[in-house]
Amino acid sequence: MQILIIGSGGREHALAWKCAQDINVKNVYVAPGNAGTALECKVKNVPIEPSNQQLLLDFCNTRGIDLVIIGPEAPLVEGLADFLGAQGVPTFGPSQHAAQLEGSKTFAKEFFAKYHIPTAAFVTCHNLESAKQYLTTAKMPIVVKADGLAAGKGVIICNNYEEAEAACVDIFEARAFGDAGNKVVIEEFLTGEEASFIAVVSGNSIIPLATSQDHKAVGDNDEGLNTGGMGAYSPAPIITDSLHQKVMEQVMLPTMTGLINEGAPYLGFLYAGLMIENGQIKVLEFNCRFGDPETQPIMMRLQSSLVELCLAAINNKLDSHHISWSPQHACGVVLAAKGYPQDYQKGHPVKIADIQNHGTKLFHAGTTEEKGIIKTNGGRVFCMTALGENLATARKNAYNAISTVDFDGMFYRSDIGAKGLKND
Ligand code: AMP
Ligand code: GLY
Repeated sequence: MQILIIGSGGREHALAWKCAQDINVKNVYVAPGNAGTALECKVKNVPIEPSNQQLLLDFCNTRGIDLVIIGPEAPLVEGLADFLGAQGVPTFGPSQHAAQLEGSKTFAKEFFAKYHIPTAAFVTCHNLESAKQYLTTAKMPIVVKADGLAAGKGVIICNNYEEAEAACVDIFEARAFGDAGNKVVIEEFLTGEEASFIAVVSGNSIIPLATSQDHKAVGDNDEGLNTGGMGAYSPAPIITDSLHQKVMEQVMLPTMTGLINEGAPYLGFLYAGLMIENGQIKVLEFNCRFGDPETQPIMMRLQSSLVELCLAAINNKLDSHHISWSPQHACGVVLAAKGYPQDYQKGHPVKIADIQNHGTKLFHAGTTEEKGIIKTNGGRVFCMTALGENLATARKNAYNAISTVDFDGMFYRSDIGAKGLKND
């Protein structure tokens, strides 16, 4: 089989690495990929951007691609899955309509309200005046969110009226997020602990994947600016069996049937970002794709075939499909470039020594290769991921292996997985 993965981050490296392990897979192409995907056995990078739908289609036709997995949200929100699917290319990823769950916060919040999915109380504002008026009576702290995709930066947590007003001025007047800020969601600030719940969905069938927990803030103890995610581990003990059942009943199943009702049945990875407090769950957001960095530890634990799972979903055979997991725990620590999530430098050469431990894997994210030298090319540069018989060992293995990597300005959080130890 010939597989094409779309994207270039750590998530796509992990997906490509996993697909390449399948004995039925001859080649895995990654468009455009990174320096790490280029180094994998059976994996080749293809210099096509995820936004170039026609070139991707031509590539699929020329190479006889049997499965496309779309990694990031932007091409999904732009309708790549519809475009390739309409031409008969087996494509794993939601339609443009269904991807609005991530692509538009107002779409998502109105959907939650309509289908009684628990979430923070909210209002939608279409201009600065109405936002300011709402804020005068709102309880603080409060959360201001740009409606559209903003590369993880469109959520602003505000402690008082002045901060909230400034956030709205930034979005509506200074156009900080361009058209993504044509509308704003203002919502109640939630407290509790976050977890990621990711499933494979195909119409009215669903297979939940292993649970995980991300670490969104840049610094230890969840301090500092929000990032795309500084590390993740799986399983997440905070999702107990009874909470798992609650998430399925209150969030995943109503979303799945709600989307069918809206004429937008889902196909792909469906990711609910949850806030959990005293056994109660609320949805912070939906993503229409796998999480990054959650993919890295989760793929380390998936024992059955990812290719077969995606094909079963595409071919409406998810109900009779079974997947299996390693009982081991996995922990992934993101190695980031100085300055991230704000401005950071690119182009620093990276030194990587061999990792001796079989259960440890360095997934690349923001890397590129120039004349045989691997250089940094993004804010999140790597995710060092390791298995262990329990979370403590998985963490130890991941942190120990970090000494095999070095680049100018490298930093990472030292407490990835610490919350899981507390909940274990
Ligand atoms: P989102 O993109 O909506 O998931 O927001 C990104 C991050 O902002 C989340 O992972 C939370 O850490 C935080 N966040 C978003 N909405 C809220 C909220 N209503 N209350 C507290 N924190 C929030
Ligand atoms: N790790 C969070 C995300 O993928 O959105």
